[in-house]
Amino acid sequence: MPILRDFFIKLSENQLLNSAAQRYGFKLGAQSVVAGTNIPEVIESMKELNRQGISCTVDNLGEFVYERSEAIKAKEQILEVIEAIHENGVEGHISVKPSQLGLDIDYDFCYENLMEIVGKAHEYNMHVNFDQETYARLQPTFDLMEKISETYDNVGSVIQSYFFNAKENVEKYKNFRLRIVKGAYKEPADVAYQDKQDIDLNFIEIIEYHLLHGKFTSIATHDHNVINHVKQFVKDNNISKDKFEFQMLYGFRKDMQLDLAKEGYNFCTYVPFGSDWYGYFMRRLAERPQNINLVTKQVFNK
Ligand code: FDA
Repeated sequence: MPILRDFFIKLSENQLLNSAAQRYGFKLGAQSVVAGTNIPEVIESMKELNRQGISCTVDNLGEFVYERSEAIKAKEQILEVIEAIHENGVEGHISVKPSQLGLDIDYDFCYENLMEIVGKAHEYNMHVNFDQETYARLQPTFDLMEKISETYDNVGSVIQSYFFNAKENVEKYKNFRLRIVKGAYKEPADVAYQDKQDIDLNFIEIIEYHLLHGKFTSIATHDHNVINHVKQFVKDNNISKDKFEFQMLYGFRKDMQLDLAKEGYNFCTYVPFGSDWYGYFMRRLAERPQNINLVTKQVFNK
């Protein structure tokens, strides 16, 4: 399986394939895990989830941003999404990737873009999550979160449990709303655990720490073992349901998403949309090559 994982991660990083995928449209079965290509479509998907008692975090997909104009375009689109969420009265917040807003171009430029987004969301009492990407962007992303939190309180980020410094970071940033994940990128052995068991153990420890000591915790996983462990842990430690939520990606384990919402847990679906779906989709295949089933179903059920 690690070979397949590396294969799909490599594909996710391929710019040529990324632009070909955009040019040739919304294909390869991505529509089962991407909630539309434009704002009206994503709002409809959110309404449907809201009807089932599920809130959403929306990600306007975008990768490989090296030009200021591309980052500005992404910022404008995200501002439009915030406006649309507010106007339509749907329950949801925003997830952004700092690289999409210019982090790889210039830190201060990215800061200005993020400030505008967080400021707009703040007007509507909406949270903004800074998604975490590769190791090189980890500390700059936390720095941006901290700096922006001096002005606005509606920001948070992600702890990737595969990093050796994940525990240190969850302690350092415990007063932020944090999403805890295993980690989706290929990282070298000098900064990240490579073994699934080590990652899973660290994941549980970090979740428990933030549930006990932190602000609101988003437990983002499709792993039923972890979810069952958390259910028991919050019960044993009298942690109330308004202190945390479960999160999963749009289109994955839909029955479990609904069941958790029905059981009275706060549940939030990560809803990606847009034409730039290629890298996101390849990373999902890297995590779980069985997800290729989703692709084949889409192709053959037509
Ligand atoms: P994992 O993939 O380890 O699976 C564990 C077990 O769960 C499997 O062996 C299987 O038994 C079961 N399982 C998993 N998926 C299944 C499925 N579809 N159907 C049936 N069984 C299944 N990463 C990152 O680096 N930065 C980020 O900002 C984010 N953000 C984020 C938000 C949200 C809402 C989620 C859910 C995930 C992320 N991630 C992320 C991705 C994350 O780091 C991780 O790569 C994936 O969630 C995969 O790990 P899991 O914990 O889901 O279980």
